[in-house]
Amino acid sequence: TVLVVDFGAQYAQLIARRVREARVYSEIVPSTMPVAEMLAKNPKAIILSGGPSSVYEEGAPRLDRAIFEAGVPVFGMCYGFQLMAITLGGTVDDNGAREYGRTPLHVTKTGSTLFEGTPTEQSVWMSHGDACSAAPEGFTVTASTDVVPVAAFENDEARLYGVQYHPEVLHSTHGQQILEHFLYRGAGLAPTWTTHNVVDEQIALIKAQVGTKRAICGLSGGVDSAVAAALVQKAIGSQLTCVYVDHGLMRQGETEQVEKDFVAATGVKLKVVDAQERFLSALKGVSDPEEKRKIIGREFIRVFEQAQAEIVAEAGEHGESVDFLVQGTLYPDVVESGGGTGTANIKSHHNVGGLPEDLQFQLVEPLRKLFKDEVRMVGQELGLPEEIVQRQPFPGPGLGIRIVGEVTKERLDLLREADAIAREELTAAGLDREIWQCPVVLLADVRSVGVQGDGRTYGHPIVLRPVSSEDAMTADWSRLPYEVLAKISTRITNEVRDVNRVVLDVTSKPPGTIEWE
Ligand code: XMP
Repeated sequence: TVLVVDFGAQYAQLIARRVREARVYSEIVPSTMPVAEMLAKNPKAIILSGGPSSVYEEGAPRLDRAIFEAGVPVFGMCYGFQLMAITLGGTVDDNGAREYGRTPLHVTKTGSTLFEGTPTEQSVWMSHGDACSAAPEGFTVTASTDVVPVAAFENDEARLYGVQYHPEVLHSTHGQQILEHFLYRGAGLAPTWTTHNVVDEQIALIKAQVGTKRAICGLSGGVDSAVAAALVQKAIGSQLTCVYVDHGLMRQGETEQVEKDFVAATGVKLKVVDAQERFLSALKGVSDPEEKRKIIGREFIRVFEQAQAEIVAEAGEHGESVDFLVQGTLYPDVVESGGGTGTANIKSHHNVGGLPEDLQFQLVEPLRKLFKDEVRMVGQELGLPEEIVQRQPFPGPGLGIRIVGEVTKERLDLLREADAIAREELTAAGLDREIWQCPVVLLADVRSVGVQGDGRTYGHPIVLRPVSSEDAMTADWSRLPYEVLAKISTRITNEVRDVNRVVLDVTSKPPGTIEWE
């Protein structure tokens, strides 16, 4: 394991992902963890992340010097670099030598472990106020910038390395190569970690955890719950029952996909609950987005609990009790819920398949160490169909939060039609991988005048919201080819009744969110 010590501000997650892209297993630990505890995990290497603090700030996170003296290779980045410098006797000044953004880096030492084989001039991503002006004793300075004399250093004998910039972001042109040099050359690790090992390991763990008992799993149609269920199914077979709540807010073909394709690929035991009427009547007259989200979340839990009670009752007759609930929790959820203090509640995210807090179950969470792209690879290993594995994100509350205004059966049908056309055309144009997701939104409370055939129409606009993103935290609107947009627009206005206008959302996130509600 490579430990990534988290000094805050989300850099650590990206670093951990990059390490895994280099096919070395990594885990994130908070910087507040005592060094002895970190070393007890027997790490093969340690990476110190960047962070928002200045090393001179009062209360800025520190590290026990022991971390550099344990014989474990260490790589400090940005804040981690400065911390390494001052802890080991180098100099870091608050001298106004700030750098932000893309910066030219000059590699000054040939034969450096980190920079070997990379150009002597390269572009890196900087974000710092303080700067290192003298490396600690025993270290060689390996790179500088126009502003800072010590932008990277290394002590090969002690296997300690550091760079002032952020190699983990794509703007650092050779960042991944430098990270790999640390892992392979500095720390002597081999690129052997694959999701293949994860499947075997998790199957063994699930078998050991569940034994002969039974488990249930809520399926949402999304990638995470599908892969989690497939993995558990592989481990315990018919001891697992999946529940799919059809709330009527799904897109065209999605329920069928779960009912047919998923079951065919996995052989899972599936209980489908048709709750469309129930959700529609609960949503009647409601247009406030937060209220919709709360209603959908609440109804979902009620239906799920009812289904679960039925399964428990049926299982009781056959002996083994239902003690386990399978969840598709991912690593970012785990990291974020460990470190989440005081973040503003922008929207009440509702994870369909998510858990009511008072459920009397033990959790099985086979994906809690994985990132999304790794979950997709596991899904592929398990033989899940491409349409499920490569599915773009879709919100738990479904189309309920893509109708601006009250949710009704007619409006849902209309939106489903428009959405199906947009998806079909984007797929036909080969744009699925390029786009993170493309919400299609019905402005049900807005009308505009149009002319179709010979007559005046007074219909609703449909909004296309294609975005590109790496993690949905930030996003940019996708620059789709005009011909594709034109085709979608023509088809939607021709084929979907009551829609006489198609508009494109050209807002990034922030300030807009991806969904409209
Ligand atoms: P926003 O709209 O907050 O969306 O920019 C970020 C990402 O999250 C998805 N999303 C949800 N996913 N339950 C979910 O499981 C929800 O309640 C929910 N709301 C938004 C959204 O589709 C995007 O990928």
